[in-house]
Amino acid sequence: MNQSWDALKDHHAAVEGRPILDLFEDGTRAAAFSATTDGMLFDYAKTNIDARGRTLLLQLAEQAGVADKRAAMFAGARINETEGRAVLHTTLRNMDTPLMVDGQDVTIALRETHARMEAFANDVRTGRLTGQGGKITDVVNIGIGGSDLGPAMAVLALAPFHDGPRVHFISNVDGAHAADCLRGLNPETTLVIVASKTFTTIETMTNAETVRVWMAAKVADPAAQFAAVSTAAEKTSAFGIDSARVFGFEDWVGGRYSMWGPIGLSLMLAVGPKGFTDFLRGGAAMDAHFRAAPFAQNLPVLLALIGIWHNQICGYATRAVLPYDQRLSRLPAYLQQLEMESNGKRVSMDGADLPYHSGPVVWGEPGTNGQHAFYQLIHQGTRVVPCEFLVAKRGHEPDLAHQHLLLVSNCLAQSEALLRGRSLAEATAIMASKGLTGAELDRQARHRVFPGNRPSTTLAYDQLTPFVLGQIIALYEHRVFVEGVILGINSYDQWGVELGKELALALQPMLEGKRETTGKDGSTRQLVEWARG
Ligand code: F6P
Repeated sequence: MNQSWDALKDHHAAVEGRPILDLFEDGTRAAAFSATTDGMLFDYAKTNIDARGRTLLLQLAEQAGVADKRAAMFAGARINETEGRAVLHTTLRNMDTPLMVDGQDVTIALRETHARMEAFANDVRTGRLTGQGGKITDVVNIGIGGSDLGPAMAVLALAPFHDGPRVHFISNVDGAHAADCLRGLNPETTLVIVASKTFTTIETMTNAETVRVWMAAKVADPAAQFAAVSTAAEKTSAFGIDSARVFGFEDWVGGRYSMWGPIGLSLMLAVGPKGFTDFLRGGAAMDAHFRAAPFAQNLPVLLALIGIWHNQICGYATRAVLPYDQRLSRLPAYLQQLEMESNGKRVSMDGADLPYHSGPVVWGEPGTNGQHAFYQLIHQGTRVVPCEFLVAKRGHEPDLAHQHLLLVSNCLAQSEALLRGRSLAEATAIMASKGLTGAELDRQARHRVFPGNRPSTTLAYDQLTPFVLGQIIALYEHRVFVEGVILGINSYDQWGVELGKELALALQPMLEGKRETTGKDGSTRQLVEWARG
């Protein structure tokens, strides 16, 4: 830990109990603790970060070498050190700027693949690609993790822009997922995309087999209804998929960062090449902002520093993502992978134990639904949960009953309530006005106290368009990068998912009764016996 960490800890100890509301007294706080880019407003005034705290946090970012590491990432250096790979998902949305890696301009191949994706999407969308049923009405994307969460989240987010086939997603190895998705679909008019970077992921390959059997029951040439998105061309061809319908990408695109390229094919089919390009443009706009804006006005840097402040300095273990935008329902799940798979690491780049906590637990649900479920704990529980609100100025629907106004007022009210709270004196006055007195007044009032002083940020944008969605996703990606640099970890590997996969493979023959459970702990043995029984 360097001096900046110590200074931040000391500063936190000095301001810990201070009411955030007091920081607003000079009237300049809201503007001074906000930043904007391309029509987006990020307001972090409702946190306990003051001018000194911000200065210390910005110093931390400087000392961690964020600027140099950022330059290294964009230049194609192998910053994913444990896998010896570059991290170049940003190039997928900046294909017109040549980028030399190992003596080759990597954007040439990207543009070629992108053009093939567009031609394919146009063929499907215009009916030129007829399949074996005369047209394609439905697309099923089979993938998991980064090969599912991004496109599934974005397809839902951009529903008002859908003008192509219906798009469905199968991810879970639980056969219920495939069964429920396929019910009602016609194999003859369904296109299946097997999306897997490695083309070895057991869930995806098992689901692909299941869907192939479903397809074979009705169509003469099942493989002809399949397309694939993968880095493993030989494996897609072994599966029988025509290389003309295989869209490849390089190993320097991490799974959870891959929706900008071929893994986004399902999104392109839903919203069309133009909508997809707008999404890329939004991501590229955020890249430009991240590279050029001074740290004090740089949205990804600010989000990261606020995250560090809340998690590593204040000790708040979780972070709630609360989109007041129903179509961002899958954003929290998407961010869980992006943030927790990236920054849930216990050792730093050199293998030493981290001297602080890794990234936070990320969770959430859209408002206003969450208000009627878990906000009780956020307002009155004993733990502090920093909240990140997202809200659009305008919806897409004709606002017949002022629904959007109501949505926005609820979003703003929640952050205000978290900030302001309700004191015992205020609660007592309210209950007294209802006629309560004496001990009962005191008892009832105590249940109605809101401690307040609970931090939140708000990301406000005009309307959820493909461009804005691109901005939002790139913003979170870069936030993860900056947090990772400051924590000194590798945000781009995911060894923590491997052990469970290995053990699952070993357990399979035990569950089938083909192998003894020797060496297993008593609990696992008991559960294997239960499953076999
Ligand atoms: O198990 C985790 C993981 O490796 C993720 O990082 C990845 O997004 C997901 O599995 C799917 O991998 P693939 O695209 O290779 O099927």
